[in-house]
Amino acid sequence: MKMQPWLGSRLLLLLLLPLTALPDTQSLGSEDQALMGSRGPVVVIVGAGISGIAAAEKLHKSGLKNVKILEATGRTGGRIHTQSFAKGLVEIGAQLINGPSPGNPIFQLASQFGLLGPDALLEENQKMYFHNYPPSTLVIYSSSGKIINPEELKNITELYNTWLEEARNFTSGVCDPKDSVGNFIQQKALNSSQEWDKELAEKNMAYLRAMLNMKCCASAAHSMDYVALCPYGEYTILPGLDCTFPKGFESLVNRIKAPLPDGTVLLNKAVKGIHWNGSFHGDNSQVYPVKVQCEDGDSFLADHVIVTVPLGFLKKRSVDLLIPPLPPNKMQAIKNLGFGTMNKILVEFEKPFWDLNTSLIQPVWEGDSPLTEPKKDLKQNWMKKISGFVVLEPPAQMGHVLCGFIAGEESEFMETLTDEEIFSSMTDYFRTFTGNPELPPPISILRSQWHSHPFTGGSYSYVAVGSSGIDVDNLAEPLPTDKEAVKPLQILFAGEATIRNFYSTTHGALMSGWREAQRLIDKYPEIEVTNSKAKL
Ligand SMILES: Cc1cc2nc3c(=O)[nH]c(=O)nc-3n(C[C@H](O)[C@H](O)[C@H](O)COP(=O)(O)OP(=O)(O)OC[C@H]3O[C@@H](n4cnc5c(N)ncnc54)[C@H](O)[C@@H]3O)c2cc1C
Ligand SMILES: *[C@@H]1O[C@H](CO)[C@@H](O)[C@H](O)[C@H]1NC(C)=O
Ligand SMILES: *[C@@H]1O[C@H](CO)[C@@H](O)[C@H](O)[C@H]1NC(C)=O
Ligand SMILES: *[C@@H]1O[C@H](CO)[C@@H](O)[C@H](O)[C@H]1NC(C)=O
Ligand SMILES: *[C@@H]1O[C@H](CO)[C@@H](O)[C@H](O)[C@H]1NC(C)=O
Ligand SMILES: *[C@@H]1O[C@H](CO)[C@@H](O)[C@H](O)[C@H]1NC(C)=O
Repeated sequence: MKMQPWLGSRLLLLLLLPLTALPDTQSLGSEDQALMGSRGPVVVIVGAGISGIAAAEKLHKSGLKNVKILEATGRTGGRIHTQSFAKGLVEIGAQLINGPSPGNPIFQLASQFGLLGPDALLEENQKMYFHNYPPSTLVIYSSSGKIINPEELKNITELYNTWLEEARNFTSGVCDPKDSVGNFIQQKALNSSQEWDKELAEKNMAYLRAMLNMKCCASAAHSMDYVALCPYGEYTILPGLDCTFPKGFESLVNRIKAPLPDGTVLLNKAVKGIHWNGSFHGDNSQVYPVKVQCEDGDSFLADHVIVTVPLGFLKKRSVDLLIPPLPPNKMQAIKNLGFGTMNKILVEFEKPFWDLNTSLIQPVWEGDSPLTEPKKDLKQNWMKKISGFVVLEPPAQMGHVLCGFIAGEESEFMETLTDEEIFSSMTDYFRTFTGNPELPPPISILRSQWHSHPFTGGSYSYVAVGSSGIDVDNLAEPLPTDKEAVKPLQILFAGEATIRNFYSTTHGALMSGWREAQRLIDKYPEIEVTNSKAKL
């Protein structure tokens, strides 16, 4: 067994540290003392996304300084990934602070670090609840090459928003657990359509399909028929007009990780198996309950491991990632919860075909309806699932860039295409919508491929039909589940999919990392005391 040098030399390191930084092991409870002898707890975090980084920073700040993060890829940030494109920076993963207001810790940190633009800090923007972009900046294109006046769709938009609100209200009402959000909206549409003439029905149905495509992107679900109706409202919408990071979302991750000592994050360290409930001997004759085995042969001993890998990775590896395996309720949760794909297609044009005051472009396919299944021939039809394009701002710095969103099987199919195929499909696509067969092709294209990402396996989680918020709580429960266990909190779970009211978001991921760090901090109250003594 090859052991990491940092483990072997930990004793030496401790001796070199100033005395005040040493955990006050003397005052540890007798049980803990028996467990750890004269050392402080060793924590290994699997995954350097925002949940893992936030957990490490909180532990470190609280005096639990023996922390390592093992990250499979060559970078930190995970699903927060800023990259250069066109003339500026674009987000391959998370883009917006969803609900930037005082209750959102991402917003809190971002404003504290001075990472936001002036608009995001306006108090009136923090109070705003928003469902759709202000209509003046939304431009709706039809597949017959015409622009649709949003006024024509005002009634159906209002109806749809009421239906969604009703769907969210089921949390506190009577509900069939087999029901889906998609089915609910379809029933509403069918009922209302009795009052529409043929022309209005066609227009409204096509627009409802476009709106549902957008919702699929919000849930990263192939279809809203997969998203459970009863718990839909458990997801909490925070107030605030969604905003972006002028210097990229990754600027936040970099600020959070800055206080961590060099060598805390180990990159290209894919974890293969986590052996727990054991007694593993380190080369300092200490005994640890957990051994983390990496793909490259390295292994790490720990008292506590915080697993932050995406649900998509857990779905692929639920059977053998933990040894002994996960308890049945966790296996069920991993199987039942939804984890789908939402990708971006960034398209740069030499000259914009849209008015400069446009912020969102929404495509509507004539003849579409939420009551019929999308066509199965993905090669011909995948683009029809693209739900909209955000115009990236400001064009002077960015260039003329549209950021398209696409969810589901069509999105996964898109990942398999070559750049040339995407280029040619997108050229045809925009020519169709602008009604201009001569429209110059885009000058560059970049798309995300989250489904094919070996350590992510999709975009984010949703509560699928057949699961409930209880599954999210079960996923978050630490191991061993036995409250009387001699060695408690061996394996803890954080990450976007483990937080019942804020799953699928960066703030949810961050809060889940803090939650698990706090669980460990609470277990070692003496260490916190020592730390504050050291600060004085
Ligand atoms: C396209 C897209 C758009 C999004 N838009 C938004 C948005 O606008 N606003 C918002 O708030 N959220 C958004 N999200 C969601 C947000 O990005 C995530 O919820 C959040 O970043 C997840 O953080 P995490 O720490 O839970 O997981 P991750 O960031 O995925 O971190 C987990 C880490 O674990 C690593 N890992 C996996 N397996 C192993 C292994 N075996 N060994 C070691 N390491 C491993 C991974 O490489 C990864 O770095 C978006 C996501 C996507 C994909
Ligand atoms: C947007 O710009 C176009 C012309 O470029 C103009 O006709 C239209 O009124 C503008 N809309 C708004 C809401 O400012
Ligand atoms: C919207 O509904 C109102 C009344 O319910 C009706 O008068 C109006 O014509 C409708 N508008 C459209 C565009 O259908
Ligand atoms: C949803 O519930 C809230 C609070 O109970 C209520 O005010 C609102 O009218 C409901 N909305 C719909 C569309 O039923
Ligand atoms: C069906 O629509 C009518 C109005 O068109 C409405 O009064 C009724 O409540 C609707 N039924 C359901 C189940 O939504
Ligand atoms: C953990 O180990 C104990 C004692 O060896 C055993 O009784 C228990 O079943 C184990 N738990 C799991 C989940 O394997």
